[in-house]
Amino acid sequence: MVASIVVGLQWGDEGKGKVVDYYAKDADVVVRFNGGANAGHTVIVGGKVHKFHLMPSGVLAGKRVMMGSGMVIDPETLLKEIELAKGASPNFSLLIDGKAHVVTPYHKLLDGASDKLKGKFGAGTTKRGIGPAYADKADRIGLRMCDLVGLDAFDERAKFLEEVKKKTASIYNLNADEIQNFTETYRNYGEQLKPYVGDVVYALNDFLKKKQKVLFEGAQGALLDVDHGVYPYTTSSNVTAGAVCTSCGVPAKRIKRVLGVVKAYTSRVGAGPLVSEIEGELADKIREKGKEYGTTTGRPRRIGWLDLVATRYTAMINGADHLCITKLDTLGGLDSIKVCKAYKLDGKRTKQHPQSASALARCKPVYEEFAGWPDLSGEEWRAVAEKGYDALHENCKCYVEHIAKKCKAKLAMVSVGPGREDTILLKNLF
Ligand code: IMP
Ligand code: MG
Repeated sequence: MVASIVVGLQWGDEGKGKVVDYYAKDADVVVRFNGGANAGHTVIVGGKVHKFHLMPSGVLAGKRVMMGSGMVIDPETLLKEIELAKGASPNFSLLIDGKAHVVTPYHKLLDGASDKLKGKFGAGTTKRGIGPAYADKADRIGLRMCDLVGLDAFDERAKFLEEVKKKTASIYNLNADEIQNFTETYRNYGEQLKPYVGDVVYALNDFLKKKQKVLFEGAQGALLDVDHGVYPYTTSSNVTAGAVCTSCGVPAKRIKRVLGVVKAYTSRVGAGPLVSEIEGELADKIREKGKEYGTTTGRPRRIGWLDLVATRYTAMINGADHLCITKLDTLGGLDSIKVCKAYKLDGKRTKQHPQSASALARCKPVYEEFAGWPDLSGEEWRAVAEKGYDALHENCKCYVEHIAKKCKAKLAMVSVGPGREDTILLKNLF
């Protein structure tokens, strides 16, 4: 049993890309299991910045990578990332599950149009076609990677879909002629992607039987999970650890460890309630220092204090037995740091994350305060990382240990900067 999972415990952008890159060096294969090009994973290696939306971040560690059937794949974006990955990884090897769904131009068009139509209930999506692609999957009219590369049947299915979408365009205030014919272009994508499409389920189960180490890489964060997140301000897939099993056909009993990634504060792109939100000068300062702008859309991220009500809940639903806490450097230089330890909902104190977005919007944060730690330069933080955990400022240790304790998890990693070198490892995943 050597399968471990890395997932985000907040709203995405916790720094999973970097964490996966770090642990990938011990793995034999790295697998993404959910979402699509809505994700933006940034990994910095030797000062060079790599940004991936679909490709598992583990590719930069030179590992074999796979994409599970729970993903929705935009072939145009993927082909670009394959070229980038080939440049970065000399032994590039990718296997995409034939059951993964394909994102087409109309999915992207509909994503924007339907989010607009939803008005205040819109999630402020990334417009990468994610919701409409998962909707077609559930409606059983989606196109899958096996259709895309099984070229004969593709034309008929794609043309059928073009017709369906033209007929339904007006629901979204679109004209039928805005639905482009994509059959030709996609046939060409299919030909290019054919060598990479196969059966991830058999491959992974075979690897696990041979005791090879498999690292599953999550995208987004648990509060965006379509079942357990703040619905309807979520993404359209299951992003929590359980999705590994459904997406990749890997039995639950195979999973050894779940590592939850928590940023030292909160950030969120898109709409919906954010109980511990900070506004004004302090939020701007953290946003600038932490470079909190969406990797996929460039939107400025909303900023908040760490919300332990939410994080305890997401650690629980993921079964996160280990934690990685990121971006402690960003909070350096603050006199005091707040952590939301409970909510006041309609005047009553609670430590439970409410089920509805409207209840969450009525919650007021109950804070506790922690003493801050000094603002260090990038080089100084790197020197701390080199010396190891004991070199961290006492207040910083107190902060991360408190988070781990409250989440009932062990600290596995602390990150104090964007590069591979700015990492303090406390526990291996395999
Ligand atoms: P969608 O996934 O594009 O449908 O967007 C739904 C919501 O999830 C929006 O609030 C997005 O901003 C958010 N979202 C989706 N993917 C990510 C991600 O990788 N990081 C952060 N937010 C995301
Ligand atoms: Mg991101």
